[in-house]
Amino acid sequence: MNTLENLRLKIKELSENYTDEEIGGWITGDGPVPCNILFVGEAPGKTEVEQGKPFVGMAGETFEEYLNSIDLTRTKVRVTNTCFFRPIKIKEGKTGRTTVSNRTPKSPEIKLFKEILDEEIELVNPKIIITLGNIPLKRLTNFKSIGDCHGQVYFNEELKRYVFPMYHPSALTYNRNDTFKKMYHDDWIKLKKVLETL
Ligand code: URA
Repeated sequence: MNTLENLRLKIKELSENYTDEEIGGWITGDGPVPCNILFVGEAPGKTEVEQGKPFVGMAGETFEEYLNSIDLTRTKVRVTNTCFFRPIKIKEGKTGRTTVSNRTPKSPEIKLFKEILDEEIELVNPKIIITLGNIPLKRLTNFKSIGDCHGQVYFNEELKRYVFPMYHPSALTYNRNDTFKKMYHDDWIKLKKVLETL
């Protein structure tokens, strides 16, 4: 039988043996198992790796704020990622100074963790999966773009579960205009209503 500890060991092994690209540490999912509600993000950043938990950095603050606004807390939901290590790019400046920044996980990196995420979904056995951004959306559904499907619930035949696509919380940082903000806010209200029907 699979366990969270098995998943942790597999993530550790895959990450520590990955040599194709630069990475900056790895984490597992967080939250109760089993759990009716599963959020799936993209990949951890620096703060997540430091604290060993998904969504605890800047995007995590936005995420938790909205989660609390619909009367949910981190203790009631499971949160995980599509890619379990932190994809990074390292740039050397002309002065010799190096900067490390996050990058979007590449297709092979998403594939690397396909089995792990599938196994986590089986273990968590959620009624609904909320995808945060395009990376988990494309990994778990046939939708091409978040813009086409966000804020609605779908029954996914392959997963045999409901899926509710949302924008990634960090999209709020890039789209500071009121229209986007209102739409993002409304999506959380829609999620709240959907959760009440499950
Ligand atoms: N963004 C993600 O997609 N996942 C995290 O864990 C943190 C930020």
